[in-house]
Amino acid sequence: MGRGSGFGKTILFGEHFVVHGVPGIVSAIDLATDAEVKRIGEGITIQDERKGAKGYTEKKRTQQKESIERMLTIMGIDLEKTSLEIWLGGRLPGFSGIGASAASSVAIARAIAEEFKTSLSDERINEIAYEAEKAYAGTPSGIDNTAATYGGLIWFVKNLSGGPNTIERLNIKKPVEIVIGNTGVVADTKEMVAGVAERMKENPEEYERLFDQAKDLSFKARKALEDFNLREVGRLMNKNHLLLQKIGVSSEELDYLVNLTRDQGAFGAKLTGGGGGGCMVALTPGKELQETVAATIERERFQVLRTKIGIQR
Ligand code: PMV
Repeated sequence: MGRGSGFGKTILFGEHFVVHGVPGIVSAIDLATDAEVKRIGEGITIQDERKGAKGYTEKKRTQQKESIERMLTIMGIDLEKTSLEIWLGGRLPGFSGIGASAASSVAIARAIAEEFKTSLSDERINEIAYEAEKAYAGTPSGIDNTAATYGGLIWFVKNLSGGPNTIERLNIKKPVEIVIGNTGVVADTKEMVAGVAERMKENPEEYERLFDQAKDLSFKARKALEDFNLREVGRLMNKNHLLLQKIGVSSEELDYLVNLTRDQGAFGAKLTGGGGGGCMVALTPGKELQETVAATIERERFQVLRTKIGIQR
């Protein structure tokens, strides 16, 4: 049997914009998806025991199947002649927006490699998981699989000419508490990414302006994180949420949770990931503030994760 795991993540700055070459900042979280793979049975079977939002697994089943086929193909494994029993579990819940698909792809790729007794570098695992991500995100930037593979806090820039992406590890003084709130709405990242591309075509000048602003925010955020100026990081997150609203990827539930957490004292809050539902993230330094914000969301009957950014692998 082969085993593997992949980290969940939260995008702190630049989701969607990152698909079009704007720098993004992502942090892995301390929750991972684990996979086990055995070469038995008939065909490819998946036993998905990840705890999650209702409907997540059902809604993503077709994309999950396609993603595994893509992985096997790029790994040079003959789909016709291979039987695999894949088990998925671990502490990362199946929420939209926290990189659950990328975490599972990295976990499965590592488990398959172990089962086939091949040793693959992280770089190769990342490439395989990127191929798998296409099934979920259409034209993914690669930021999710990068965080799922390497962990830590990462500055990511997609290379639009097909060359290697920029992946830089960022260091912060110490990990910082965050709260992730789940709207419970399962969103389709592929549709969200395609929607932005369509609106961009209709309104190229406005989008160019918004993309420039997003780029400026990412650079400022990098500096604020490296200076450990958390108030500034929070303010920039709020500005990033405004830009995400403008490109049409927020939702009523996301805006509600973002406002709620800010009212409770979060330093900043924004949607995280593909949007249209899924999750939001609030910056809540210190256990006390984190608990206040998390408990408020729970009282409103939304699911919540208490975790940290900047945990080094
Ligand atoms: O919703 P998630 O966790 O799959 O994150 C998607 C992030 C996007 O920027 C919207 C897409 C991408 O590939 O970068």
